[in-house]
Amino acid sequence: MQFALPWNDRLGRFAPLKALALAGVIAPGLWIGGHWLNGTLGAKPLEVALHETGLWAIRILLVALAITPFRLITGWGKLLQIRRILGVSALVYVLIHLTLYVIQQKYDLYVVAREIVLRFYLTIGFVSLAAMLALGLTSTDGAIRRMGAARWQKLHRLVYPLAALGIFHAFLQAKINVNEEVIQFGLFLVLMAVRVMRSRVPLTFWPLVGLVILSMPITAGLEALWYGLATGVPWRRVLDANFMLALAPRPALWTGIIALALPLASLLSHRASNAGTPRARSDRVQPTTGVHP
Ligand code: HEM
Repeated sequence: MQFALPWNDRLGRFAPLKALALAGVIAPGLWIGGHWLNGTLGAKPLEVALHETGLWAIRILLVALAITPFRLITGWGKLLQIRRILGVSALVYVLIHLTLYVIQQKYDLYVVAREIVLRFYLTIGFVSLAAMLALGLTSTDGAIRRMGAARWQKLHRLVYPLAALGIFHAFLQAKINVNEEVIQFGLFLVLMAVRVMRSRVPLTFWPLVGLVILSMPITAGLEALWYGLATGVPWRRVLDANFMLALAPRPALWTGIIALALPLASLLSHRASNAGTPRARSDRVQPTTGVHP
C-alpha cells in the first residue's frame, strides 16, 4: 500500500497549496505548544491552551466553510484540494481541546461525563464534537466510495449545524466578552448566505458588496441581542457602541472587513479571466462541480 503524503496531490506530485494549508493549520498548534513549553502561555497555561484550541477549531472550520463560496466566486477548482486538510485539522484541534478538558478535570472521566450531561454549554460542545467525529471518520477516499457521493454529501451537510453549535458553545462559556464569537457567527451567516445566493443571484462583485454591507447591521443586531438576553445590558447601548469611535472597531465592522474578501476575490478573478492568463484558464472549473454541498 502506498502512503499518500498530505502535501502531495492525487498523482503524488507536490501541491504547493496543500503544503501551505498544512503549514497554516500546524502553526497555531506549534505556537500554543511552544509558549506552553517556554512558560509564556500565562499564569494558567492549561486554561489558555483549552481556550486557544477551541478558538482555532472554529477559525479553521470557518476557513473550510469558505472554500465552496470562494470556489463558486472565482471558479478556482484547486481550492477543493485543501478542504479535507482543513476539516480534519479542525477535528484534531477539537480533540486536543477535549483532551485538555479531561486533564483539567484530573483525568476523572466520570466527572467529565457528568459535567457534559449537566452543563448545557458542554452538552452542546459534545454534540458538535460527535458530529465532527462522524464527518472526520467518513472523510477517507474509501469511505466516500463506499457511501456514494449522494449519501456522503447528505451526511456532510451536518457541517453547518455542527459549526453553529460549536460557536453557540463558545458564546455560552464566554460570559462577558463575546467579540470573537460575534465575528465568527457573523462570518458563518455570510458563508451560508453565499450558498443561498448561488442559485438566485450571480455571485459577482456588486451582489457580494451588498452582502458585505448587509452583514454588518445583522452582526451588530446579533451582538446587541446576545448582550441584552445574556447579560441584561440594554441592547440600544450595545448598538450605539457601533457608532462610537472610542469603542471602534466593533465585531460588526470586523465581520464586514473580513467578508470584503468575497467581492475582492470576484474582482480579481474577473480581471484574471479577462486577462486570459493560461493559469486562470486552466484552473477554472464550472462553478457547479464538486461533491461538497
Ligand atoms: C465534549 C466536547 C467539549 C468540551 C468538554 C469542551 C469544553 C470547553 C471548556 C471547558 C471551555 C472553557 C470554558 C471556561 O473556561 O469557562 C471551552 C471553550 C471553548 N470551546 Fe469547547 N468543548 C467541547 C467542544 C467544543 C467544540 C466541538 C468546539 C468547536 C467546534 C469548541 C470550541 C470552543 C471555543 C471556541 C471555546 C471558547 C474559547 C474562548 O472564547 O476563549 N468546543 N470548551
